[in-house]
Amino acid sequence: MKQTSNNSLANGPYFPNVRLRRLRKSKALRDLLQETRISSDDLIFPLFVEEGLKNPKNVASMPDIQRIPPSKIVDVVSEILDLGIKGVIVFGIPSKKDNTAHAAYNEKGVVQKAIKTIKKNFGDRIVVISDVCMCQYTNSGHCGIIRENVVDNDSTIEILSKIAESHAKCGADIVAPSAMMDGQVFAIRKQLNDAGLADTSIMAYSAKMASPLYSPFRDLADSTPKFGDRKTYQMPGTNSFESLREIELDIKEGADMIMIKPALPYLDLIYKTRELFNLPLCAYSVSGEYALIKAASEKGWINETDVMIEFLSSIKRAGSDLIITYFAKKMAKVLLEK
Ligand code: PBG
Ligand code: ZN
Repeated sequence: MKQTSNNSLANGPYFPNVRLRRLRKSKALRDLLQETRISSDDLIFPLFVEEGLKNPKNVASMPDIQRIPPSKIVDVVSEILDLGIKGVIVFGIPSKKDNTAHAAYNEKGVVQKAIKTIKKNFGDRIVVISDVCMCQYTNSGHCGIIRENVVDNDSTIEILSKIAESHAKCGADIVAPSAMMDGQVFAIRKQLNDAGLADTSIMAYSAKMASPLYSPFRDLADSTPKFGDRKTYQMPGTNSFESLREIELDIKEGADMIMIKPALPYLDLIYKTRELFNLPLCAYSVSGEYALIKAASEKGWINETDVMIEFLSSIKRAGSDLIITYFAKKMAKVLLEK
């Protein structure tokens, strides 16, 4: 075999002819060549509206995120729109809980009123997504109805359907069932169709892991389970085949969009899902992901803005179309100032 001479090596499509550092010479050049971009068009901001609240309320584990009073919704949403954000996901904190989550489908409930207010003031300028679940509304803090100490699937999906219908009637553009009950997407699609609400979309929290990263959210939404955990309904984070089955079934049941949650520890699933399915894909970068960055930056250990950009970029690069993030406003500001 002929030996490769030093000379032919020098003429190859590699060093010293090829130098990737040439493409990193200036910021302008790097900007031109940037492959992944975050746009405020893709960001969704979570809103927490508390019934009966007079002034915005802070929660220690979620710095800079507040529970907002119904009277402040218009201000909050106009600020979001001014930043170029097009979507919000609404969570309610009711003043009364019970065993069957009545407040969740009351037509005068906190979320129902919030949706109406947003739609009345902003119409189609903003996409309103509503979280459809029961955990803020049940005494147990579980995402469904308790029967003999177990969350009962089939009676829960009936209630979830009522909740979804009531949100859709108030003008929600998208309902997002997050209880991880079997058949919830099917039940909701049927209920919406039967109620003449065929234009309301469903964003299924399809692969929602039983993650320890939800604790700050539960402080914020007052939805910590009073006993046990959510492992009989939320997915084990270790299982990627199972998460693909969850996604496949939600698509068959009629989901218009799918969601993976949390985001950062599951970038591989975001990537796989993007390769395998053609529906719009949303990643929910959850409260714990936010809190980790906030806490480390408060200690002065990392740069909050830079880490935020790196994390959000990684979620986009993995293949997510949309990102629900508590950083939506901060990221949108960065984009406006760029
Ligand atoms: C429950 C729900 C959870 C989140 C949104 N809806 C998690 C849970 O309590 O199990 C978590 C969102 C976050 O952590 O930001 N239906
Ligand atoms: Zn829930």
